[in-house]
Amino acid sequence: MLSVENITVCYGQMKALQGVSLEISQGDMVALIGANGSGKSTLMNVISGMIQAVSGEIIWEGRPLKGLSPDNICQAGIIQVPEGRKLFPGMTVEENIIMGAYHPNVRRQAPESLQKVFSTFPRLADRRRQFAGSLSGGEQQMVALGRALMAKPRLLMLDEPSLGLAPKAAAEIFMIIKELNKEGMTILLVSQEVLETLSITTYGYVLENGIMALKGPSRELRENPKVKTSYLGL
Ligand SMILES: Nc1ncnc2c1ncn2[C@@H]1O[C@H](COP(=O)(O)OP(=O)(O)OP(=O)(O)O)[C@@H](O)[C@H]1O
Ligand SMILES: [Mg+2]
Repeated sequence: MLSVENITVCYGQMKALQGVSLEISQGDMVALIGANGSGKSTLMNVISGMIQAVSGEIIWEGRPLKGLSPDNICQAGIIQVPEGRKLFPGMTVEENIIMGAYHPNVRRQAPESLQKVFSTFPRLADRRRQFAGSLSGGEQQMVALGRALMAKPRLLMLDEPSLGLAPKAAAEIFMIIKELNKEGMTILLVSQEVLETLSITTYGYVLENGIMALKGPSRELRENPKVKTSYLGL
């Protein structure tokens, strides 16, 4: 479904990604892990078209994404929930969620999509008229997820969805992600909660200083000595 081939990204002189490749098949839930600054967000931003690669190719459903704007890429079905959620705090929960359906091809279905989001996140339905900025961190993450779902993603890319959340809220978010995947959503998950992430995904990639250092079935990565010492603190 998605094939990232030999991507290199530079910020000025600094190579943030060097010859990175990654594959995602339909229905997969794939983990992308790595230390701070290893290039995880950069890789997501290249896929979503926010950043241009200096070389390499990204193939989405058989077609190269090169030259497409972030907007075109959204319309093609690749939706990113960015690190830090990026909500509009002074707008209501419902207004924030509806923003996800601004494209004409999903706008018509917005009322049904909104109902679906509220049934996935009943807590947001109760708070629909509240300002997004007044919600707890976990609830704000739900709004960010809900907004992404409004765009009818075929690939959902989640960048640190549990960052800064209390353990209980983080566990709830992971449960929701797992449920979305069970319902058929293809997901690329970046998270520093490595054990949790490798428990709910089927396949994983490990970035180290912009290089794809390891990849394999999540079950195997969990037992990998290097992963154990570097990311699981064992
Ligand atoms: N806009 C930018 N300009 C210059 N350097 C950048 C920019 N964005 C990221 N970098 C650098 O590129 C490298 C990779 O950053 P990136 O944000 O992709 O890492 P990350 O794995 O997502 O880290 P974190 O876990 O902290 O979110 C880092 O060294 C970072 O400082
Ligand atoms: Mg990041």
